[in-house]
Amino acid sequence: MPRHKITEGAKLPKHVALIMDGNGRWAKKRLMPRSFGHKKGMERMIGLMEHAFDLGVDYITVYALSTENLKRPKEELGGLFDLIRNHFAEYMERVCARGVRLRVIGDTSLLPDDVQEILTTSQAKTEKYVGKGINVALCYGSRAEIVRAANIAVERGEKLTEESFSALLYTGGQPDPDLIIRTGKEVRLSNFLLWQAAYAELYFSDKMFPEFSDRDLEKAIEWYGERVRRFGKTDEQLGERL
Ligand code: FPP
Repeated sequence: MPRHKITEGAKLPKHVALIMDGNGRWAKKRLMPRSFGHKKGMERMIGLMEHAFDLGVDYITVYALSTENLKRPKEELGGLFDLIRNHFAEYMERVCARGVRLRVIGDTSLLPDDVQEILTTSQAKTEKYVGKGINVALCYGSRAEIVRAANIAVERGEKLTEESFSALLYTGGQPDPDLIIRTGKEVRLSNFLLWQAAYAELYFSDKMFPEFSDRDLEKAIEWYGERVRRFGKTDEQLGERL
């Protein structure tokens, strides 16, 4: 018996993206340092990834650090890098054992060398996997991603189509996100997957990220299941719910 409404045959998003906002406020409310919020956030991120794959989602993209976040105090950034140093490889190995390929997307050259090495090694271990993926966005900005892709095309002297341009983005070869979830009460995309989000359903939660539970993820997916995705067409043209 299924323990929730997401039963076989229900409309599941293939690709879910997460804007994990609210770690700092969650920690502050508990009189704890922001780094404590990020640690809880990382644990929640892994739990949600595992749950999403168990539900049948194929791709998950998480916004772990934006290019703009690099301007945060050294202490906070150091805490985030330490989380990667101490836990990333082990956590990713656990999730990716489900046959999931890891991609780190963003300008990782901006990260400390030892952190870059951990990311490279973790990705290499999953190279054999196809069909399921995790994208961890680090030092990521969507406009920078788009400009980078455009520059690759210019260097190659290529005339672009929407498909060939998509292939040049960090997410090339993957389906676009169907559902983008943002926690932390804010209602914006914050330079995240702007091209890929063209037809995504957007779900905003008032919960701070460390308290966004597996059940909250299920609720977001159930909400997604009730959306009618028209992709610009009319209801009559669709004939039935997509
Ligand atoms: C935004 O919330 C969150 C971040 C800038 C970091 C997100 C990182 C994680 C969830 C875990 C770490 C994962 C990796 C891979 C390092 P905020 O801290 O800005 O919260 P606030 O809006 O309440 O201040």
